[in-house]
Amino acid sequence: MVGTRPATPQAMFTKIAPRYDLVNSVMTFGGDRRLRRRAVRMLRLEADSKVLDLAAGTAAIASALVAEYRFPISYFAVDLNEQMLEVAERKLARLRQEQPRSEWGLMRGSAEDLTFESSSFDAVVMCFALDDMDDPAAALSETARVLGDGGRFLLIELALPDNPILLKVLKLRLSMIRGIAGLFGLDPVAHMTEEIESDRGADYTISRCESVGLTLDSQARYHGGMVRAYVFRK
Ligand SMILES: C[S@@+](CC[C@H](N)C(=O)[O-])C[C@H]1O[C@@H](n2cnc3c(N)ncnc32)[C@H](O)[C@@H]1O
Repeated sequence: MVGTRPATPQAMFTKIAPRYDLVNSVMTFGGDRRLRRRAVRMLRLEADSKVLDLAAGTAAIASALVAEYRFPISYFAVDLNEQMLEVAERKLARLRQEQPRSEWGLMRGSAEDLTFESSSFDAVVMCFALDDMDDPAAALSETARVLGDGGRFLLIELALPDNPILLKVLKLRLSMIRGIAGLFGLDPVAHMTEEIESDRGADYTISRCESVGLTLDSQARYHGGMVRAYVFRK
């Protein structure tokens, strides 16, 4: 039976926003950047692609796109959380200076109810966010709606490894991290460990995306299986 993931209150993102990038970096020894970069490579973008980053947070994906693709693109970030978007806006302001041939935009809004016209993007990215939403099914339908025909959807999720030894080691590590996070009042970090432990598996994710008319194109695992990335095609 498929269980549920713990709900993530917006207050948690508000609290962590100024330190979100740093916490990610420290927890993965810098591996989060490498991971995002490898994942965006799976999109195989072309010059001038229009990319929508849903639940973009601090726009970490924008930096990965710049690192991976040498040509201009048009990037647009959407997130519900103002504090996360403040950090994102500072990042995009730098990118506007450094990469002036690309377009860098953002807006506050819900992935579950987008204001964009149908078929207006070549690619949509959703990274570590689907199960933070109140209505993930609505967000997936909106994703499919705003993608053009042949457009690609990159979905990145926390996961449990399949290898039983790695799984045992990871579970031990997660309970240690949860203990340390509890001592320092880092509830977003503790929450993340609970999210990993409630992974419902790749088949569940794939069927969710197929139910809105998307077809699996490729998938990959990173960080010893703790992260899954999928590319779906409309
Ligand atoms: C764990 S963060 C991931 C941020 C970013 N995608 C990344 O790669 O680091 C989850 C983000 O989802 C956002 N979020 C949750 N529900 C949302 C919704 N319905 N619409 C837009 N953003 C949402 C939160 O505000 C938060 O910034």
